[in-house]
Amino acid sequence: MAGEWILTLTAQTPTNIAVIKYWGKRDESLILPVNDSISVTLDPGHLCTTTTVAVSPAFEQDRMWLNGKEISLSGDRFQSCLREIRARATDVENKEKGIKISKKDWEKLHLHISSFNNFPTAAGLASSAAGLACLVFALGKLMNVQEDHSQLSAIARQGSGSACRSLYGGFVKWIMGKEENGSDSLAVQLADEKHWDELVIIIAVVSSRQKETSSTSGMRESVETSLLLQHRAKEVVPKRILKMEEAIQNRDFASFAALACADSNQFHAVCLDTSPPIFYMNDTSHRIINCVEKWNRSEEAPQVAYTFDAGPNAVLIARNRKAASLLIQRLLYYFPPNPETDMNSYVLGDKSILKDAGIQGIDDVEALPPPPEIKDKIPAQKNRGEVSYFICTRPGRGPVVLSDESQALIDPKTGLPK
Ligand code: DP6
Repeated sequence: MAGEWILTLTAQTPTNIAVIKYWGKRDESLILPVNDSISVTLDPGHLCTTTTVAVSPAFEQDRMWLNGKEISLSGDRFQSCLREIRARATDVENKEKGIKISKKDWEKLHLHISSFNNFPTAAGLASSAAGLACLVFALGKLMNVQEDHSQLSAIARQGSGSACRSLYGGFVKWIMGKEENGSDSLAVQLADEKHWDELVIIIAVVSSRQKETSSTSGMRESVETSLLLQHRAKEVVPKRILKMEEAIQNRDFASFAALACADSNQFHAVCLDTSPPIFYMNDTSHRIINCVEKWNRSEEAPQVAYTFDAGPNAVLIARNRKAASLLIQRLLYYFPPNPETDMNSYVLGDKSILKDAGIQGIDDVEALPPPPEIKDKIPAQKNRGEVSYFICTRPGRGPVVLSDESQALIDPKTGLPK
């Protein structure tokens, strides 16, 4: 270890959306949950975190930048992740650059970390899950940690619970575990993203002026005050987990949708059962639920599942592309954009769904007929401006290393964000 070299590594990690929710901890500092949870990983092409980690003998302290702004690494959660990953570092040799780092050197070497979300951090789209998972994954690769993704997930869990599920693509279960030290509280992959690739996911980012209670404090209050949470964790979730695993294995959309919707609704019922009550969904969220419920009930089989996390945004999972194009027509009918909004910035992600729906511009939105399930009734109310934008995506892959140096977020010469 000589000279002032800088070694970097860049990784990309997806976000995930829970279809059986994690809500409540039995251990606050180790982040151990009161029940198992199951999630779908979202396509990183549309929603992901990219993180570059750099190490150099010239760095004087650990530093981190998020979307270009320096943030503090002093929090317990960051410190747990850094400590756990450093403890597992092994020898690293980069012959091309003439760098050799031995296992014991890692304790003294400092890190620079730069992270970027390809979606608005403030939109409430599980940015901490992708962010912490990416930090742990990238550091694990840089430090030549030999542990598999499940063991890395148990480290990411200590950064943010839901982050552990972002270590895999496809369909993922976070097993709550029994051990007091949390060693068996980790994520496993139930099926990869190709297993059920007809699914299409549309996220409605709902406009909200309200500052929401953070998941961390919200779930703490629920654990302290909600009897429904105790019942849910003991009696409801264990059975639901088994049924959800079966639905995913069999690609049984009717069961998948029924379980996902019921579990989202129960999570929000637990929030209402908390004292003082927590309201994450707003009137727009409720209108979206009504739209989906009405449509599903008018069909022979459900077309769309909905799920809401700790905020008003709706995550809608359509059974296939056909259902997704009928869904986007309904969503645009009920929630047209404000005048002057360009469709290109109103529907993001996989725009081919819009094309399938025959919508090119705002005129096509204005010309949409009312959905047949409300025909002959009072014309439906339009709720212009209630949705900020939609993102069309699908189930996606797990974390990857980006070997193209042009994608690095840290300048390999200065060690600072580009
Ligand atoms: C509603 O993982 O953000 O999204 O572990 O305290 O960091 P901490 O909480 P966090 O909680 C996520 C809760 C949820 C449901 C879920 O993702 O399962």
